[in-house]
Amino acid sequence: MTPQPICTAQLPLSKRLKAGTSRAHDSVDALVMSVRPFASLECYGYFLRLQHDFHGALNALYDDIELNRLLPGLSELPRFDAVCADLADLQLQIPPAPQAVAPRSTYAALGWLYCSEGSNLGAAFLFKDTQQIGLTAENGARHLAPHPDGRALHWRQFVALLDGLELSEAQREEAVSGAVAAFDFYRAALRDIFPAT
Ligand code: HEM
Repeated sequence: MTPQPICTAQLPLSKRLKAGTSRAHDSVDALVMSVRPFASLECYGYFLRLQHDFHGALNALYDDIELNRLLPGLSELPRFDAVCADLADLQLQIPPAPQAVAPRSTYAALGWLYCSEGSNLGAAFLFKDTQQIGLTAENGARHLAPHPDGRALHWRQFVALLDGLELSEAQREEAVSGAVAAFDFYRAALRDIFPAT
């Protein structure tokens, strides 16, 4: 039997975002691991600067009124302050806040937020790695620590909000483009920050 192509138009938005970014995710995942960010506190310092660039650039989206209307509770989720606290824990200088990203539309911004919130899932593995270099949820690895309700529940709640939105096909496409742009941003920031990549 000939396999049927996947019709992404029928997928819930979260699945559509996942399908549209799985290649981007895997390349970013491999790139992060290749720079061995948890090999030493010095390497972790570079990783924190990368996280500072990413979460700092997205920070204003979490306070956006229209995005909070679409995703109630969004303003409670940003991790930028926790990244800054992690830098301070390690007595590293906190760089100036990066320029805010300006997604093309509210729907593209949803894709950026999907990328940022989803990164909490992979953070479970990264959080374990930080323990090898002596860091904890109270010292240096605050921004990778699980949400008080647990990562899985927190993610399911976010996914339910995304999947409950009534979007046109064009708006769903914009969300996927936004998520791809967010992964591209992360990859470019990593190459800027880590030496010899
Ligand atoms: C070494 C680095 C990384 C590893 C090992 C990793 C690993 C993972 C894993 C295992 C999952 C699936 C977890 C699950 O389904 O329970 C996941 C999901 C995800 N990660 Fe990563 N990740 C990494 C970096 C990143 C980065 C840097 C970003 C964003 C900038 C990111 C964004 C996402 C997103 C959006 C999802 C949700 C996928 C979905 O829709 O289910 N990840 N990651």
